Amino acid sequence: MHNPNDITLVLEDEAATLACGARFANILQAGLNIYLHGDLGAGKTTFTRGVLHGLGYIGKVKSPTYTLVESYHFAQFNVYHFDLYRFSDEEEWEAAGFREYFNAQNICMIEWPEKAEHILPKPDIDVKLSLYNTGKPENFGRQVQFVAASILGKQCLDRF
Ligand SMILES: Nc1ncnc2c1ncn2[C@@H]1O[C@H](COP(=O)(O)OP(=O)(O)O)[C@@H](O)[C@H]1O
Ligand SMILES: [Mg+2]
Repeated sequence: MHNPNDITLVLEDEAATLACGARFANILQAGLNIYLHGDLGAGKTTFTRGVLHGLGYIGKVKSPTYTLVESYHFAQFNVYHFDLYRFSDEEEWEAAGFREYFNAQNICMIEWPEKAEHILPKPDIDVKLSLYNTGKPENFGRQVQFVAASILGKQCLDRF
């Protein structure tokens, strides 16, 4: 039996990352704060695209690299997808009203949370995407690990 506090899956290709995101979408509930960890190219945006399509969003999912955040509205909750790679100004965070996005009605999914760890609310779930060497030259595998970081996060991951 797997330990529901910590689930690791291999992602064979981009379609697997999208499918994994869509499956993860089924366990989501309002109020979740989800950190997306992993190097550039690990699959954080692809995974989020899978989540949003799984929730029923049909349009294009843009990487919020320059805008810092993209928002998506669903009947049950709003999803705010952050990419904080270029984030540096903590005053901008307050001025833009980002703090208010973190509440019981919304879900926040955050790429590069490490860039704003002093101001970000704590996560409920850590999603850790990583590249690993398969042993063959220039052949990287990808995997994802889900770690519950709160009671709410654990309740959700138990349904995964
Ligand atoms: N499991 C996978 N196997 C191979 N390529 C993948 C996989 N998941 C995503 N990709 C590809 O990796 C590239 C970078 O993904 P992206 O989601 O933008 O990474 P990040 O947001 O972590 O920087 C994209 O071209 C995407 O299609
Ligand atoms: Mg990205």
